[in-house]
Amino acid sequence: MGRAFVYVILGGGVAAGYAALEFVKKGVSHGELCIISDEPVAPYERPALSKGFLLPEAAARLPSFHTCVGANEERLTPKWYKEHGIELVLGTGVKSADVKRKTLLTATGETISYKILIVATGARALKLEEFGVSGSDAENVCYLRDIADANRLVNVVQSCPGGNAVVIGGGYIGMECAASLVINKINVTMVFPEAHCMARLFTSKIANYYEEFYKSRGVNFVKGTVLSSFDFDSNGKVTAVNLRDGRKLSVDMVVVGIGIRPNTVLFEGQLTLEKGGIKVNGMLQSSNSSVYAIGDVAAFPVKAFGETRRLEHVDSARKSARHAVDAIMEPDKTGEFDYLPFFYSRVFTLSWQFYGDNVGEVVYYGDMSGGAFGAYWVSKGHLVGAFLEGGTKEEYEAIAKATRVRPEIEDLTELERQGLRFAVTV
Ligand code: FDA
Ligand code: NAD
Repeated sequence: MGRAFVYVILGGGVAAGYAALEFVKKGVSHGELCIISDEPVAPYERPALSKGFLLPEAAARLPSFHTCVGANEERLTPKWYKEHGIELVLGTGVKSADVKRKTLLTATGETISYKILIVATGARALKLEEFGVSGSDAENVCYLRDIADANRLVNVVQSCPGGNAVVIGGGYIGMECAASLVINKINVTMVFPEAHCMARLFTSKIANYYEEFYKSRGVNFVKGTVLSSFDFDSNGKVTAVNLRDGRKLSVDMVVVGIGIRPNTVLFEGQLTLEKGGIKVNGMLQSSNSSVYAIGDVAAFPVKAFGETRRLEHVDSARKSARHAVDAIMEPDKTGEFDYLPFFYSRVFTLSWQFYGDNVGEVVYYGDMSGGAFGAYWVSKGHLVGAFLEGGTKEEYEAIAKATRVRPEIEDLTELERQGLRFAVTV
């Protein structure tokens, strides 16, 4: 049994939703496009899962956060896909792909063929077992990648009111989940191997600001160590976390956020891979000209840095999706993807944005005692990155523009003196 489509999007996450909207804007015909996803629901804004979804009151629930509400665009419900003649194959994993024959084989045994394939398979959460610790399957150990994980996390939180949680990992999931747990009145200890939180992006000075804020909300930090094992009760529930430094932390629940791996396995040996993802050119086209890759799974050339990067953030998923569809539908009108990396987070009453690259020398500005503050990164005499906490819409736009322009910086002291005013006047 089999079906044939002109365009197939493999994966039903953020990038898939934004690609679908762009296909419709570019005039795709009814019956031409199919989306296959192993998730049971239509594409949604994944960032909601660690924020609004976890609120104790007035929590976000589908259908409120289907794509593309995160970019203030239309909300694509299953009805929308139907009305636009887009085949949404949900709850169906793809088990193998054959890029020579241009076919996908689903777990239900169906062969779906395509003329053009867009791979939007995102990534999976790394498991503790991959670091030599067992216990991921315990009922009070939570990961957070999809809506099923988020529902489970909510249930576990509700099962231990006022309880103790250990959050493993000091990256995005760790920081956002720790804040959400505190808001749910759970006592939180964060454990991570680095000297400070958000080590991939923050300097120790920026990290210190957030750690102090978290401490003021009751969060404990255990840094520079990792867990070595769990203790379990007779029902297989985790009762304590044992750390490599010898400490034991009693717990009612555990949240794990220790990074991700892009879902490339279907294409290994068939497409060129780089930086853990599918290598694509400036049109988001892989080493096979009928296959494109977008979102977390794509390693694409970032013009501003002159190198290939794989980014794990929603803005990159949305924009790479739109660009790939433009390149497919209007190849003559579409240039190379010229993307400025953009990351953000919101926790408690805090909110930050970062644009560009965090390399080179760092110049701080603003008021770290409670007002807006930020940092610039200067490399080879040019501004290459900018961070701002607590800015206004206009100020965020200013740091984005300044980073895109990459102005020459002759005097770091003068940049420090001007602070945010520098970006506003670029
Ligand atoms: P995404 O993971 O969204 O979608 C991939 C889809 O492919 C999934 O539906 C998956 O089930 C499906 N799939 C994979 N393999 C398949 C197969 N073989 N067969 C069928 N289907 C398959 N970023 C940011 O900038 N700001 C933020 O605040 C946040 N917050 C945030 C919170 C949480 C909880 C997470 C997990 C992530 C974020 N992110 C974020 C990151 C952001 O959500 C992420 O970069 C995008 O979701 C990437 O979009 P993709 O479509 O590439 O993958
Ligand atoms: P991450 O890469 O941000 O952080 C991983 C963290 O794991 C590291 O900071 C480190 O502290 C920790 N770690 C690594 N090895 C460990 C070990 N052996 N034991 C304990 N800790 C260890 O990844 P994440 O926080 O898991 O986030 C998953 C994905 O979701 C990422 O792609 C991220 O970009 C995305 N996300 C983004 C946002 C956002 O942009 N606001 C929010 C949530 C999630």
